[in-house]
Amino acid sequence: MQISIELDSDSQQSLQNQVFESIREQILTGNLKSGMMMPSTRLLNEQLGVSRNTIIHAYDRLIAEGYLFSKKTVGTFVNPNLPDVSLRLMREVSSNTIQQTKYSEEQIYKRQPVAFQGRVQALFNPHRDQLDVDFWVGRPDPKSFPINIWRQLTIKNLAHSGSSMTEYHDPAGIYDLRNAIAEHLRPARGINCNPEQIIIVSGIQEALNVVSRVLIKQDTSAVMECPCYQGAAYVLESYGAKLHPVPVDNEGLDVSQLPDKETALAYVTPSHQYPLGATLSLERRLRLLDWARDTGAYILEDDYDSDFRHQGSPLTAVAGQDKYGYVIYMGTFSKSIGAALRMGYMVMPEELVEPARTAKALMDNGHAWLDQAVMMEFITSGAYLKHLRCIRRTYLSRRDCLIEELQNNFGDVQLSGLEGGMHLVWHLPESLPEAKEVQQIAQDAGVGIYSLPAAAAHDFGKKGYRERALLFGYSSTTEEKIRYGIARIAAALK
Ligand SMILES: Cc1ncc(COP(=O)(O)O)c(C=O)c1O
Repeated sequence: MQISIELDSDSQQSLQNQVFESIREQILTGNLKSGMMMPSTRLLNEQLGVSRNTIIHAYDRLIAEGYLFSKKTVGTFVNPNLPDVSLRLMREVSSNTIQQTKYSEEQIYKRQPVAFQGRVQALFNPHRDQLDVDFWVGRPDPKSFPINIWRQLTIKNLAHSGSSMTEYHDPAGIYDLRNAIAEHLRPARGINCNPEQIIIVSGIQEALNVVSRVLIKQDTSAVMECPCYQGAAYVLESYGAKLHPVPVDNEGLDVSQLPDKETALAYVTPSHQYPLGATLSLERRLRLLDWARDTGAYILEDDYDSDFRHQGSPLTAVAGQDKYGYVIYMGTFSKSIGAALRMGYMVMPEELVEPARTAKALMDNGHAWLDQAVMMEFITSGAYLKHLRCIRRTYLSRRDCLIEELQNNFGDVQLSGLEGGMHLVWHLPESLPEAKEVQQIAQDAGVGIYSLPAAAAHDFGKKGYRERALLFGYSSTTEEKIRYGIARIAAALK
């Protein structure tokens, strides 16, 4: 037998969830009668054109929640003894159906408007499981995660945790970790700060939320690099900010185009501009600081991948050059250790420490104690620096290999973003199709490369880079795969 289920491939809901919801609803409305035999998972997966596992998992959930039951070797059936909660839902559904005759649709389905409006940044490729080689951006090598030491430190800290796991802690983070980060930042980024200025967050994304909470009201003006990181643009916009795009070129943000009018902040990625990869020149850094002092705006420095500097000496962070406290600095362990750790930090100018600490407390009462304790020891034991030294070497070789392969296969390629970070940008020659098309051709050949919008970059609808720039992350794939992947793209483009 067939049952009617409509799936929407564009829906935010997984296919499994859609199958689950559709069957559940049909049971509750009586379309699927109590005791009725359900189609086999094989039949349904053929009918719907989805994987059998999707159907199996949806059935499993329906069985677990009591809507279906299965008889070994016979089949799966609609449960004639539906659980109480389902019967209540069923009564609600049928009373709604009766009311439909009396009231208009809007009245029956009236809901409070959703106050929140936002877009979500593209942080993973939904097709990545189908790729042989993925040049996805900004991922550490999975093999580099320091699993042994992390395990040891976790076990050790748990064993001596006392009441630490049951207490609330300072929402700004445990002092020893903040101190360890302050000590690390001094030589690494030239930033001279007190531990009290540091707030531990669950990555730069949360830091952006804290800053927005503290500085943004409806229509507050915020300068953004154009193009910029989607995650930053979307979060500021979701708090009501009016974004003011300022173009970037091969020296980073074009500071000559900064606005004179009142601006709350300027979001910048000076070490390795995201997405195009330029390093903000020293002269522009100083002019940016002057602009902040003249206008009173804060500079929001996103230093996401500055741990990797492949050529030239590392420039001090803008926060390290700031004498007057205009820079809010944001760092993350997502790129140097692992994005799933969800840990980062912000260094606040003195007058913003308390508002930021309060905003963080209101958001989540502070970061998980165990993760902080482990991170603290990882840094103070010297293991973090050792880990960084090791991955820096690996990423540099991978970068070199990628440059060489692009040159071998495509000749005189125009690249940007080579000096540091974990990705580079290929500016396509006129002889090749547009970036989106090249991305699709490569994907069909099993290789993931990314145009700006696919790689979480926002360009405010401006033409140029979107059509001609392709991003290649090289940190999480091997040199062997890099060679293979680039050769595959070259063959597919011929
Ligand atoms: C420029 C930039 N900033 C911030 C982030 C996010 O960092 P986190 O994982 O710390 O939230 C990313 C992630 O790719 C990024 O590219």
